[in-house]
Amino acid sequence: MQHLVSMKHLTEEEIMAILDRADTFKKRGVRELPGKYSVSNLFFEPSTRTKMSFEMAQRKLGLDVLPFESSFSSTLKGETLYDTVKTLEAIGVDALVIRHPEDGYYEQLIGRTSVSIINGGDGSGQHPTQSLLDLFTIKEEFGSFQELNVLITGDITHSRVARSNADALTKLGANVTFLCPAEWAGEFNSVDSWDEVIKNSDVVMLLRVQHERHEAEITFAGESYHERYGLTEAREQLMKENAIIMHPGPFNRGVEIADTLIECPKSRIFKQMENGVYIRMAVLETVLKGRN
Ligand code: CP
Repeated sequence: MQHLVSMKHLTEEEIMAILDRADTFKKRGVRELPGKYSVSNLFFEPSTRTKMSFEMAQRKLGLDVLPFESSFSSTLKGETLYDTVKTLEAIGVDALVIRHPEDGYYEQLIGRTSVSIINGGDGSGQHPTQSLLDLFTIKEEFGSFQELNVLITGDITHSRVARSNADALTKLGANVTFLCPAEWAGEFNSVDSWDEVIKNSDVVMLLRVQHERHEAEITFAGESYHERYGLTEAREQLMKENAIIMHPGPFNRGVEIADTLIECPKSRIFKQMENGVYIRMAVLETVLKGRN
């Protein structure tokens, strides 16, 4: 595998190989990559988890990491993404992690550069390493994906996490249900009430309400988003005993999830962030070794 840009491109075997490799990194500690590789992280949108955990993964693998700050780069002089990537290719970078606001930004790059591209999130498109760390966290908990009931709830239409996970979980045999206001469902079918789904869900995956992408204050027939669609303490009480709560972060406390549930016994939210480092080590190793 020379690039990782979308979960749609991964076979079940490729997904499982990355999860297994991440498990080895988690259980047996750090293995430096033989040979030196240079990488850089090009983030044109804000990030804490993805950027920092890629940097941690890169350091653990012994990679040379070239710092790049989009706000101090020639992007501000109008340089295009393509020209930025070609410049870093000429300088000698082997792989780039890129987060960019444009859906499918990577299509202008693949086949036109020898640099490997790892997608750190494109607009409302895909976020493959978030999906892989979510899958890793679910597999750690349940052992497999077959017939698991996964409920994804929140701002589905704007969510690259929802899109990536829907593709991957369905491929792996899980049953995926979406819960959200109908106008936020995008291309997916959704349900409108927790009553139908809360008691049967093995995984409740909450997504951030992306306030920056909504123009008006969000209310539903007099109810707040939290009352109508959020995971409240009362709803958490209805979950199966061994069900888990996930959220990719960053979270809006008291909006999609009650403040008190973020670190409750069912929550795996900070476990997801921890697992992100091992998944990103596995992805970096797979992509760098897969270069022609
Ligand atoms: N989950 C996630 O992508 O978080 P960041 O935006 O902080 O990277």
